[in-house]
Amino acid sequence: MNASLENIKNGINELDQFNSTKGQGTTRILFTDVELEAREYIKDKMKMNGLTVEEDAIGNIFGVLEGQDPKLPPIWSGSHIDTVKHAGKFDGMAGVIAALEAQRMIKEAGMKHKRTIKSVVFTSEEPTRFGLCCLGSRALAGELQRKDLREICDEDEESLEQVLERLGYDLNAFHLIKKSNHDVYASVELHIEQGAVLEQLGKPIGIVDAIAGPSNITVTIEGVQEHAGSTPMPIRVDALTAASEIVLKVEALAKGSSSEHTVGTVGFMEVYPNASNAIPGKVTFTIDLRDSDMAVKEEVLQELLSSFKEIESKRQVSIHYVVDNHDQPMHCDNHINSMIEKICLRKSIDYNRMISGAYHDSIFVGKFAPISMIFVPSQGGLSHNPNEWTDFEDIKLGTEILAESLLTLANE
Ligand code: GLV
Ligand code: MN
Ligand code: MN
Repeated sequence: MNASLENIKNGINELDQFNSTKGQGTTRILFTDVELEAREYIKDKMKMNGLTVEEDAIGNIFGVLEGQDPKLPPIWSGSHIDTVKHAGKFDGMAGVIAALEAQRMIKEAGMKHKRTIKSVVFTSEEPTRFGLCCLGSRALAGELQRKDLREICDEDEESLEQVLERLGYDLNAFHLIKKSNHDVYASVELHIEQGAVLEQLGKPIGIVDAIAGPSNITVTIEGVQEHAGSTPMPIRVDALTAASEIVLKVEALAKGSSSEHTVGTVGFMEVYPNASNAIPGKVTFTIDLRDSDMAVKEEVLQELLSSFKEIESKRQVSIHYVVDNHDQPMHCDNHINSMIEKICLRKSIDYNRMISGAYHDSIFVGKFAPISMIFVPSQGGLSHNPNEWTDFEDIKLGTEILAESLLTLANE
């Protein structure tokens, strides 16, 4: 079965029209106008491809290609269409378009499959709007519940509950979202690598063995807002210098960790009053800590949190924090991975077994179904960046391996 380069290119470029920062990368934030338009585009495309469209109470979208025995647990493949701010057009979208193309290939080639194959668009993999990642897949795993929706708010203090209700989602059906073991037979997500491993190895395909789990912490430091000219250095209680110590601590702990996969980032910070001539009285920032080894991540997190106490007493500030999520890494399924490996060997395609440092909806799908991921190379390893790029030819190759994988699983 051959994937169509045109379909992949057009799919990704057409989706990219739904973008609130044209000319400055791609921005498509959950349930904004452009994101809602992109959802309609995907649903129309699913219908045009002869799929039945389903949508659950948190907006996960499913395109159903019915199998010969629809009672059997289905195969899933999909990703996300929301983005971080000023991102690229491939992160998430490549996996959604690849899943749709794989279904089209299977259907048009008249390949028989016992199991139903569903393409999936997971709601808000990125934490851009609500500060919590993987909302749709988290709900599918039962780790985001109806009662949580009220607590999760965006910058304008609008809760996820209010937004879903405003958009007409039936929250009385929220309990129906959760999947149990055996509801889904297997899931394979195609994604751009977002790192430079494949490019450096000169290999076109990555088969993912494990996906790092994120921990996200929101920290607020309170100091004393005072005059920058008249307050002598020894008596200052500067929230930003205290925050700076934590930023450097995050870096030092991640660099010094026993695992080469530990990474730590402070990517968001707000300084009050944010004036050149006032000592910062309050700083709020986020910490993003990840590892594919939960025990190591746990250790690093504990050490980080205990450093807060030292910084508090050394600098007389008060530090408050909330652990927004502390997610487990996920191991991919060996059986699916050997099957993908065999497909690559048969097609003489060079591949690399690897770890995903980025997280994906698959970490939550993996809680109720065997999963795997297929990576395609990212130019220069760039992602979450307007210059993110993956060659369409590489996505085509990945899509062909994806289609064969889905078909094989659908006939098991
Ligand atoms: C997902 O986009 C991540 O931050 O890994
Ligand atoms: Mn991303
Ligand atoms: Mn992604």
